[in-house]
Amino acid sequence: MINYNFTHYDSLDSTNSEVKRLCQQDYPEGTVVVAATQTVGRGRLGRRWISPPGNLYFSILLRPKVSLDVLSQLALVGGLALAKTIKYYMGDTCRVTLKWPNDILVNLQKIAGILIETDMDSCLIEGTPCYLGIGVNMERAPELTAYPAIAFKDFVTPIPDTAEFLNNFVINFNSMYVTWQEEGFVVLRDEWLSFAHGLGEFIVATAGKEGQIEGEFLTITEAGSLILLDENEKEHIISSSEVTFPDIEDRLGFINKN
Ligand code: BTN
Repeated sequence: MINYNFTHYDSLDSTNSEVKRLCQQDYPEGTVVVAATQTVGRGRLGRRWISPPGNLYFSILLRPKVSLDVLSQLALVGGLALAKTIKYYMGDTCRVTLKWPNDILVNLQKIAGILIETDMDSCLIEGTPCYLGIGVNMERAPELTAYPAIAFKDFVTPIPDTAEFLNNFVINFNSMYVTWQEEGFVVLRDEWLSFAHGLGEFIVATAGKEGQIEGEFLTITEAGSLILLDENEKEHIISSSEVTFPDIEDRLGFINKN
């Protein structure tokens, strides 16, 4: 059983950086760092995560007891727990979806993001330190984002209490985190798919040596990789890439600030 211990800060450079510093001081798994603002919040793919007051920014120190080849599944586990928590507050009034691998969308607009960093200097066969960083737009949706963003305030009044939200997230996350380590991602796959954005739709994936691949988003594998069917009916299994969904970009105006 992991004990989650929360430390709150008014301002930090980045909660991921702080939790990494604490890890280097041998803080245990379950250390949670929360900040009211971040001066250099980071997003995926080297993007900035603009962090004004009023939103939620936190990072959790984890040491998953899984082999290195499945460590990237943590992104899907974290995303699923976050989507479930957000849906609880949103109810059925809007659509909460997961854009593979782990952007959380509400009515096609991004409300939250997840950045997972690992410490390759202390990379172990199992138990590698991972920093699960999450930003949730509560009061404000920053404008300079790669995807059009929205905030809880646009849908729910009053907005959720951040401490209660965090607590609910940790409960959801912990149960999925334990399941994942003990039984594998396969057990969570169907629930992940129930939130999946764009199943059966045309997508564009930029994946390592294959470059850009276009096709239909068929499903995800038992290991969480995306399966894309190209125009020649060839299946591509994509485990790490940037995926774009033309429906999101077309309807809302994609601004790539990468
Ligand atoms: C993304 O969608 O690009 C991921 C964004 C992750 C932002 C969070 S906010 C808390 C934690 N600290 C950071 O510097 N980044 C993550």
